[in-house]
Amino acid sequence: MRAVICKEFGPVDNLVVGQVERREIGPKQLRIAIHVASLGFMDILMARGQYQLKPPLPYIPGSCGAGVVTEVGGDVVAFKVGDRVSFLNYFSAYAEEIVTDAITAIRIPDSMDFEQAATYRLTYSPSWYALVDRAGLKPGETLVITGAAGGVGMAAVRLGKLLGARVIAAVGSEKKAEAVRANGADEVIDYSVDNFRDKVKEYTNGRGADVILDVVGGDIFDQCIRCVNIWGRIIVMGFASGRIPTLPMNLPMLKNASIVGAFFGGWGMGKDHEGIRVLNAKLLELAAAGQIKAHVSHRFPLDQIKTAMHTLLGREAIGKIILNTR
Ligand SMILES: NC(=O)c1ccc[n+]([C@@H]2O[C@H](COP(=O)([O-])OP(=O)(O)OC[C@H]3O[C@@H](n4cnc5c(N)ncnc54)[C@H](OP(=O)(O)O)[C@@H]3O)[C@@H](O)[C@H]2O)c1
Repeated sequence: MRAVICKEFGPVDNLVVGQVERREIGPKQLRIAIHVASLGFMDILMARGQYQLKPPLPYIPGSCGAGVVTEVGGDVVAFKVGDRVSFLNYFSAYAEEIVTDAITAIRIPDSMDFEQAATYRLTYSPSWYALVDRAGLKPGETLVITGAAGGVGMAAVRLGKLLGARVIAAVGSEKKAEAVRANGADEVIDYSVDNFRDKVKEYTNGRGADVILDVVGGDIFDQCIRCVNIWGRIIVMGFASGRIPTLPMNLPMLKNASIVGAFFGGWGMGKDHEGIRVLNAKLLELAAAGQIKAHVSHRFPLDQIKTAMHTLLGREAIGKIILNTR
């Protein structure tokens, strides 16, 4: 089968597309013919060797996708051949098929297309986990989201509105400002021209945000603690800017503010199966009701993986980039 292959960790230009042997299926596993895979920052970090998990080489990158079950392991009762599913694994998604533990797959409703199925699990799932389970966002609170036109960001804007918050979306260009406005943000900050901290203060009458979801890190995170409300929560979710920030701890102390880590992979990729089942049921219900939808800005065939990754790294994506794998 055709797949993207990472032979050694390094720049994304080292990736190649070629033929690989089909894997044997285990008793607790599924074989899935992949139709769509989605690109995430994690996939790039892993291929560069900069992610906390380093798969044995060579490996097939890509964590999230959707397709049709073509073979079922002997112990699996929850799936049958022909089921339409999404899956979330740490790697192996940029290929024509995957053999994955059945526990990583979720059956999707007929109304959900493969693009949505391949994107919601690394956008809406971590956003929900961060906003609801980690930060306890309440109706009426003010939520600031950085990198708000990205995959996680666009989902967080929608969920923030659904949860009854006032949403301030912070982005790095005018084009992205338009996108987050169209996605339902109440206020928008373009930090390529505006001072992020001053704008948050301006939009909150000097109080600061109750909750800040930060996926950018670096200089933007440095400003978050200066524009979070008393008793506020800053959710540390990612470092897309490339710099993991540090913080003088007198600052959260003086504000009675919390720094809240949110690592969905640490909880949602194999740790708490019942929690994941409940979360997926909730999100699929919201999707079926038309209340959530992942935004897809770019579509590439499998063999254009490098262009796809450079598009993400160039901050051109709005929402998600997907790969059509067949
Ligand atoms: N902790 C978790 O559970 C979890 C789950 C999913 C993702 N993440 C992490 O969260 C971060 C965002 O993920 P994502 O999937 O939303 O990524 P994404 O779609 O690429 O969005 C990231 C956003 O960060 C901003 N950004 C600022 N500086 C950047 C730079 N130097 N290069 C690239 N982007 C930059 C960009 O927005 P502007 O151009 O508007 O600034 C971009 O839209 C990543 O670090 C990812 O690893 C964490």
